[in-house]
Amino acid sequence: ADPDSLQDFCVADLNASISINGFPCIPASKVNASDFFFALSKEGVTNTSNLNSSVTPANVLAFPAVNTLGISMNRVDFDLGGLNPPHSHPRATEMGLVAEGSILVGFVTTSNVYYSKVLTPGEVFVIPRGLVHFQKNVGNKKGIVFTSFNSHMPGVVIASTTLFGSQPPMPNEVLTQAFQVDDAVVNSIKSKFGS
Ligand code: GLV
Ligand code: MN
Repeated sequence: ADPDSLQDFCVADLNASISINGFPCIPASKVNASDFFFALSKEGVTNTSNLNSSVTPANVLAFPAVNTLGISMNRVDFDLGGLNPPHSHPRATEMGLVAEGSILVGFVTTSNVYYSKVLTPGEVFVIPRGLVHFQKNVGNKKGIVFTSFNSHMPGVVIASTTLFGSQPPMPNEVLTQAFQVDDAVVNSIKSKFGS
């Protein structure tokens, strides 16, 4: 989904003082072999929230070599019952490979149709660009999913935190009307997402 490159590579200078769409390149003379390699070998820390999951990105911010190449990855770790909560990527289609575990993968189309399947190691899935999706570990051991994107920076909109955790907060009169619940319900959800 990203624009075509105009050269072989453009390893990002993340600290450049100019601001463009993407990042400027570090000079080719300063690029080393190590720039083009990145480890997603480490298990993420899954116990920092009740989601029991962890996303380790290999996007342009973590792996500057993908700058302008229209590609990136994540590693997603799941403890028992772990959930990567409903979210969407405004700038990329996602394709994922289940490496370990039994993972329920679901997404909803713009026609409000829900598609889902439980995947096991070696199986892959695709999430069309922009659609809300999730993964949940439904097996009896840890899970690992490697996801890939056709953008160096897919972006992520997490449904729960977008609506209930923004700063400043979205007004209650919007959320009570949208979800047809009262202020107490909205306040309760907001309190869990820091808004
Ligand atoms: C999974 O949905 C991911 O965005 O890595
Ligand atoms: Mn995703």
